Amino acid sequence: MEMSVRTHGTLVQRRARARPVRRTAGIDDPIGNLSRAAHRRPGGRPAARGPHNPAVILILYAHPHPRRSSAGRTLLDGVRDLDGVTVHSLYDAYPDFAIDSAAERERIGAARLVVWQHPLYWYGVPALLKLWWEQVLVHGWAYGDGGNALSGKDCLWVTTTGALPDAYSDNGVHGHPFEVFVPPVRQTARFCGMNWLDPIVVHGAHRLQPEALRAAASQYRSRLAAYVERHG
Ligand SMILES: Cc1cc2nc3c(=O)[nH]c(=O)nc-3n(C[C@H](O)[C@H](O)[C@H](O)COP(=O)(O)O)c2cc1C
Repeated sequence: MEMSVRTHGTLVQRRARARPVRRTAGIDDPIGNLSRAAHRRPGGRPAARGPHNPAVILILYAHPHPRRSSAGRTLLDGVRDLDGVTVHSLYDAYPDFAIDSAAERERIGAARLVVWQHPLYWYGVPALLKLWWEQVLVHGWAYGDGGNALSGKDCLWVTTTGALPDAYSDNGVHGHPFEVFVPPVRQTARFCGMNWLDPIVVHGAHRLQPEALRAAASQYRSRLAAYVERHG
């Protein structure tokens, strides 16, 4: 099964490896995963994950309809059980869009890698992630005088699109190469002093077979596992 995954602007066609999907708690458990065996410490006690004891990697998952998701959910299920990873589903946490900015800042504080994962909506991030940027990444904390809370952290963008790669070209239905739509996300991270890592972009999410989606999830998992290995 062929799939298309674009990382750092490079289209990778690869054969999907047959790998069983881990069907874990799913996104009905938006924040904690605290009771999951995979998150237990060697001593058997669950790793406390939350604002006061953050993981190495914090995934901010911004899917407006998490329970209807196929691609995003498959990607997330591929990584959520990794030790050192915490998933924070923004649309589950804030269905009313009333973001607790102070809690968000505290949550992100000690994570070394911040992941922004979402479906591409109108060539950008879904509304709640945009609002999260506006309300959490504020002057004096994320940028400007004394605003160095995110400085030196790493940022990974993980997004899925409905369109196949060819649609993102001058003659394609979206009229521009996909790279044209990257700078608003990349520069948001860089403006806050974060290091921009090679993104994971899964194109044509609707058309990919389950095996291809699982292959993308496997790639995602490898990236995060390697990061935890280096920084955990
Ligand atoms: C409101 C809306 C806007 C969208 N905008 C885009 C877009 O700009 N470019 C694109 O390729 N796909 C677009 N899509 C398709 C989604 O990106 C696609 O359905 C999603 O990545 C599939 O992932 P999921 O199975 O996790 O929902 C849009 C979908 C919706 C509902």
